[in-house]
Amino acid sequence: MPATTNPPVHTILLADDDYSVTTSLALLLKQAGYASLVAPNPREALHKTAQEKIALVLLDMNFSRQTTGAEGLTLLKEIKKQQPQLPVILMTAWGSIALAVQGMQAGASDFITKPWSNEQLLHSVRTALGLAVANASAKTSQRLSREELDARYDFHALAGHEQKFLRVLEIIGRVSATDASVLITGESGTGKEMIAEALHRNSLRKDKPFIKVNLGGIPATLFESEMFGHVKGAFTDARFDRKGRFELAHGGTIFLDEVGDLDPSCQVKLLRVLQDRTYEVVGSSQTRAVDVRVISATNRNLAELIEQGQFREDLLYRLNLIAVHLPPLRERRSDIPLLAEYFLQSLGKVYRRPALALGNSARQWLQSLPWPGNIRQLKHVIERTVLMSSKDALETEDFNLALQMQQEESGKDGLPAVGSMTLDDMERAMIEKALRFYEGNITKVAEALGLSRAALYRRFEKFGITP
Ligand SMILES: Nc1ncnc2c1ncn2[C@@H]1O[C@H](COP(=O)(O)OP(=O)(O)OP(=O)(O)O)[C@@H](O)[C@H]1O
Ligand SMILES: [Mg+2]
Repeated sequence: MPATTNPPVHTILLADDDYSVTTSLALLLKQAGYASLVAPNPREALHKTAQEKIALVLLDMNFSRQTTGAEGLTLLKEIKKQQPQLPVILMTAWGSIALAVQGMQAGASDFITKPWSNEQLLHSVRTALGLAVANASAKTSQRLSREELDARYDFHALAGHEQKFLRVLEIIGRVSATDASVLITGESGTGKEMIAEALHRNSLRKDKPFIKVNLGGIPATLFESEMFGHVKGAFTDARFDRKGRFELAHGGTIFLDEVGDLDPSCQVKLLRVLQDRTYEVVGSSQTRAVDVRVISATNRNLAELIEQGQFREDLLYRLNLIAVHLPPLRERRSDIPLLAEYFLQSLGKVYRRPALALGNSARQWLQSLPWPGNIRQLKHVIERTVLMSSKDALETEDFNLALQMQQEESGKDGLPAVGSMTLDDMERAMIEKALRFYEGNITKVAEALGLSRAALYRRFEKFGITP
């Protein structure tokens, strides 16, 4: 733990030629405990970053009132070349998303749209400074072992030793104390929700609420009242005041699950609250400020959705200041016996069968399976095996029986077991089956699947299928 006596005063460089902007920013920052310097032109900015001890740069992309932003982008690149670790936050006009995106790609830490909200600006500054500290400590420490991670953080509910998984824990631990937004991706059942909970548990907000919202399950028409709340009488069914999820999460963490399934009309509403850190309760004109840490998760490929015009790129940048990808179980096979033993141990406590153990044959065999439903599927198979077998040392045949039942059960309604396949897997399997059936006749395949030929070709591309 770093010493807490006299924390250093951070100096923030304001790179903007607009006197009224720099004056009000300087005042806002001063009230928040920061010092500031002003650079009214790019030359001055580079001179100051080289000469002074600057902790962060706030850079106006429309520097010198030039509207293309090219000058701001050039300055950003030069600052990053001079000092790659120095965080730079961009200020752009609402709507100049393309510019903000180019800036993020060139290494900016974040972007603020003008007119800015003071809450969002301070939130962004705090987060960028926190992350700079976290990154600096990551540079000096080498990769942490599981034991070292456990000594620093509380990861008690998360079993796993595999390198890829440890790197995830390392990132989670490192950024937990900051307010950075974290996007967790990974196939269904890989543990995204558990990672989100661990982030909150290790954060400074741990004693405040952790509010989970399944965005895939909220109809677009109810989105605002669900997220922002409503006052009595706001609409026909609103018989009482209702608190929104953001209000419930105030001071704590909001977990936006299945964020890739959010309807485009709701995406813009979510973007606004993340951008301004304020929202309006439905039926009231009063604006409320919200203080939340945002964690989101999805098993969909957001980059692909953006390309298809189904997900807003500016929203992605609000969500993924830190991006974490959870590997599928088949890419961390050495963790399979470990997880199996972990589940057996906890089941042993529940059912008072402390001698429950993984037999040697099963250890090998479980590792060889593909586990399309990842950790969730493994957990279900183990639970079922424990219920069906009275033995203590469980062997291949015991597990195999449970696995077969899982498959048979799924055969009843003609669908694979829940957790054993994602929609993407099913789509792919069905397309391949139709291709075989019609021996590659695209017109017939498209017709049988209820798709246009163009839509079918898009899916070939998506799944890397060569018909
Ligand atoms: N590292 C782990 N150690 C122990 N159990 C785990 C671990 N990761 C996940 N699990 C268990 O696996 C199951 C699935 O985890 P979780 O719900 O977090 O997955 P998910 O990625 O959110 O899935 P989905 O995309 O379907 O929502 C849960 O029962 C959870 O307890
Ligand atoms: Mg989940």
